[in-house]
Amino acid sequence: MRQRLVVGNWKLNGSRATNAALLRACVEGADFASPAKVLGVCAPFAYLAQLQEVLGGTAIQYGSQDVSRFASGAFTGEVSAAMVADFGCRLAIVGHSERRALFGDTDEIVAIKFGMAQAVGLTPILCVGESLAEREAGDTEAVVSRQLQAVIAAHGVKSLAKAVVAYEPVWAIGTGKTASPAQAQAVHAFLRGVVAEQDASVASSLPILYGGSVKASNAAELFAQADIDGGLIGGASLVAEDFLAIGRSL
Ligand code: 13P
Repeated sequence: MRQRLVVGNWKLNGSRATNAALLRACVEGADFASPAKVLGVCAPFAYLAQLQEVLGGTAIQYGSQDVSRFASGAFTGEVSAAMVADFGCRLAIVGHSERRALFGDTDEIVAIKFGMAQAVGLTPILCVGESLAEREAGDTEAVVSRQLQAVIAAHGVKSLAKAVVAYEPVWAIGTGKTASPAQAQAVHAFLRGVVAEQDASVASSLPILYGGSVKASNAAELFAQADIDGGLIGGASLVAEDFLAIGRSL
């Protein structure tokens, strides 16, 4: 059985006070969380200590939204994977489309970050996804396969045995426009097929999450698809009741 996960990506949101209330409610409501059904939270670096304080020792996993491509040294403003792991984190998102579009994260840089996360024992959540223009041009499969192959080329297909992939169509992120379950399933099956061509056993155990306007009202239908193993949740992860309802749909 593949692990199933619902992971919140808070993006650039939060304060110590609002986080405390949100996290407390998550801990109280996460009775369904287990190693097989993971509930996770990825917060800004500044709040990793707070995540450790509130979530340490609970069933909720936590992590960062990025890691530096460098290990240490004169890189002002960077936060290394080892520093993230030092706070008890288990997860690290890499290659989110916002970082690819706004902060210069190329396929090659994302692959380096993926390796940095794995090297310190974090589970990288590798995001892939096409823009609206790419979808309309019929390039969805070419784009997501290029993004995935960059990691396979750098670290080998076996590296995916300790990773999670998140398919997040850029046009569905924060827009309220969710990919239909069939649209998402088609891309998930394609991605699993790309991995299966190289290693069938890694492909069958790889969790592939869907992200993009997942809500309590559409999560169950998405998660019921054969190759959708959970979700990466933006806006709805900031409201405990919504986030927990999505988690219960696993
Ligand atoms: P929304 O759920 O707000 O659309 O964001 C999705 C996302 O980017 C998660 O990483």
